[in-house]
Amino acid sequence: MITLKSPWHAYAAQSPREHDGPLSPPTRFEWGTHRQTGPGTEAFGRDLCRRTVLELGCGAGHNAAHLANQKGAHVTAVDMIDLQIRRARNYYEHISRLTLFTCDAMRFLRCGTDVYDAVYSVFGAVGLIDPAVLLPAIHARLNRHRPLVFSVPHPVRTARRSVSHLPQTGFLTLPDGTCRALPRWELDVPKWTALLARSGFRLCRSWELHNPTKPGIPTTLLISARRL
Ligand SMILES: C[S@@+](CC[C@H](N)C(=O)[O-])C[C@H]1O[C@@H](n2cnc3c(N)ncnc32)[C@H](O)[C@@H]1O
Repeated sequence: MITLKSPWHAYAAQSPREHDGPLSPPTRFEWGTHRQTGPGTEAFGRDLCRRTVLELGCGAGHNAAHLANQKGAHVTAVDMIDLQIRRARNYYEHISRLTLFTCDAMRFLRCGTDVYDAVYSVFGAVGLIDPAVLLPAIHARLNRHRPLVFSVPHPVRTARRSVSHLPQTGFLTLPDGTCRALPRWELDVPKWTALLARSGFRLCRSWELHNPTKPGIPTTLLISARRL
């Protein structure tokens, strides 16, 4: 059950309302914390036109709206916080091919039967749910040889190295500048590769995305994998 105590509820409640009413979707898909850095939809490795795509933890739905509107994909986007989904509907309900649901990612994966042509997460459910549980559930809802692509906070950004497959106590910085603790799986590429392989995926490529004004330390790890 999602309670008002969830840090993600506070995150949604404090996130500024960008607009009241319909918005034009962004012209670029963003995986990182800074705009115009790294790849866009080419990270999927294939054209998604008329393909079915699932986003896990869509927030206000900007990337999902881009994929549906600009790339012609049939996008299902879920977020466990109803306020986020209401915000996404307020902005993008006018976009055909975009379906938005309030639902926890694991619950959505376990309860549904549709199988998708691509699954992705942008700082969403991947990295916030135990990958040993989440990756097999994604595998069951993804067509063979199709992409799973996700971005997570880069494990070196806090100068902490991932030491095991157990979650670390991560922090979510809220828009008001306060921090809330939450479990995060902050894994490096070899550990993601091993976990993906155990769940029936092959890692295809990884990227490190940076803050362009501080190029030293990467902010984001972007991983592209294929279901075997
Ligand atoms: C950092 S925000 C990213 C939102 C969006 N992907 C973006 O890039 O703007 C993380 C989102 O994941 C959602 N989330 C966290 N855990 C989730 C879960 N278990 N199932 C579904 N959504 C989840 C949160 O409510 C939040 O909207």
